[in-house]
Amino acid sequence: MDTLQSYDELPYDRLPFPESEPDFLAAIASLHGFGAADARNARVLELGCAQGGNLIPMAARYPDSEFVGIDLSRVQVEEGQAFIAQAGLANIRLLHGDIAALPDDLGEFDFIIAHGVYSWVPDAVREALLSACRSLLKPHGIACISFNVAAGWRTYGGIRRLLLQHDRPGLCPMQRVEQARSVLAATAFEDERLQKEADYLKNASASYLFHEYLSDINKAHSFGQFVADAGRHGLRYLGEAGPRRARVALENDWGLSAEARYERWLEAEAGLDDALDTRFRRALLVRHDAGLPQPQQAGLLKGMAFSAELASEDELDFAEACEQHFTTIAGDHLPVSHPLLKAFLVVLAGACPQVMDYGRAVGHALELAREYGYRGEAHAEFLEALLDFVQMQGLRLHTFIPQRMSASADSPRASSLARAQAAMPAWPVTNAFHVALDLDEWGRRLLASMDGSLSADALGRKLRKEPGEAGIQATPQQAAWHVQRYLEFFRRQGLIG
Ligand SMILES: C[S@@+](CC[C@H](N)C(=O)[O-])C[C@H]1O[C@@H](n2cnc3c(N)ncnc32)[C@H](O)[C@@H]1O
Repeated sequence: MDTLQSYDELPYDRLPFPESEPDFLAAIASLHGFGAADARNARVLELGCAQGGNLIPMAARYPDSEFVGIDLSRVQVEEGQAFIAQAGLANIRLLHGDIAALPDDLGEFDFIIAHGVYSWVPDAVREALLSACRSLLKPHGIACISFNVAAGWRTYGGIRRLLLQHDRPGLCPMQRVEQARSVLAATAFEDERLQKEADYLKNASASYLFHEYLSDINKAHSFGQFVADAGRHGLRYLGEAGPRRARVALENDWGLSAEARYERWLEAEAGLDDALDTRFRRALLVRHDAGLPQPQQAGLLKGMAFSAELASEDELDFAEACEQHFTTIAGDHLPVSHPLLKAFLVVLAGACPQVMDYGRAVGHALELAREYGYRGEAHAEFLEALLDFVQMQGLRLHTFIPQRMSASADSPRASSLARAQAAMPAWPVTNAFHVALDLDEWGRRLLASMDGSLSADALGRKLRKEPGEAGIQATPQQAAWHVQRYLEFFRRQGLIG
């Protein structure tokens, strides 16, 4: 096949996926006792990379690593290649090609990512994908493969079946999306979960709605089937890149062989899918000969580093355990009870975008919590609560502390990637933690102008001079206030020093 028409006609959304960022993968692997490569000096392959929206920001973040992306949609690959040229990145290549017919000279990789591919390709391509992971992974390499899970899709498949009943494949993709949206608008679902999803889909991107709900192929897999298929290709399940609302705890497992313990873990994972109605997994796989993986160990968090972009509107109680909430930048409202964990999160949020190692962060947290009456230590119970919060992706795990951008005295400077993304409305701007930011028009214009040659005042004047509606309709003082607000936001996102 020369190209994939459906993605040429309605390209995917160019999004970064924080769960697939190589240092995050290495951090999750560490929690399972598995030593992965250093993301700063690694080879990374993405299969089904679309325009490179996920891979390109990684390449900018790790200039000494090498990135290769492959996708069968010619239009998407060409768009990505043009963007790479514009951003001036030399350590990334996007290739137009088929996962089922990969070039022989790719070499081996420390990380292989296939996000949003496994469930959406024919069986032969799925087999080729697993086979490529085994043959192209280095001995301690990690593959991250996401897929739709049968447990959850038993419910959500109802929406897909309904939309396909009314679909007219002869129409162009956007007409089909419009048709699907009108079916959603005219339908009231009895099941609350379905109604919630339908409401979400009414405003979701056309591309997501089309490729998830109207595509020819969307095959959900049980966890057990996925693990068995990976096993046939010499790959083992290592863990999950999340986020997840619960995790497996193996009890009474003393005396079990490592093999039996592993099997019990896998059974428990499958059971969790049924209990949670899991509909999507981001599974990590390793080579069969890399050793037998084990569940996450909370104690291993002591060797990690952390960052968090969080806020809480609660009057936090650092002395006693009581449920309070923190909100992530993605808008998730997450519960926290352990008093020391609340202090730990406050310390990290206050330091954002700094990454802090465990010792330093917990030291500050103990100081803060004790000031308000906490009498405990950072014991096992705290580490278990921290691991739960990590699982929910309320904070971010790192294996190392990244170098901070140097602060610009007068004239803020954003990276060439951030400026290139900001200048193109179709591309999301990615923050230092590989998260897409929801930037308005002024924010984009401002960021695109931050090449280090303009002071904050000059940036304010420039924005006011933009023609027509694009210009800030404001007094010089108001414009200066807007600019300061954006600068503070960009600083917290690690986009400027
Ligand atoms: C659902 S999109 C996911 C894109 C991106 N990874 C993401 O998650 O945003 C699936 C991608 O896989 C690509 N694809 C499908 N079949 C392929 C194949 N046989 N070889 C290479 N790429 C393929 C499509 O062109 C599309 O870009």
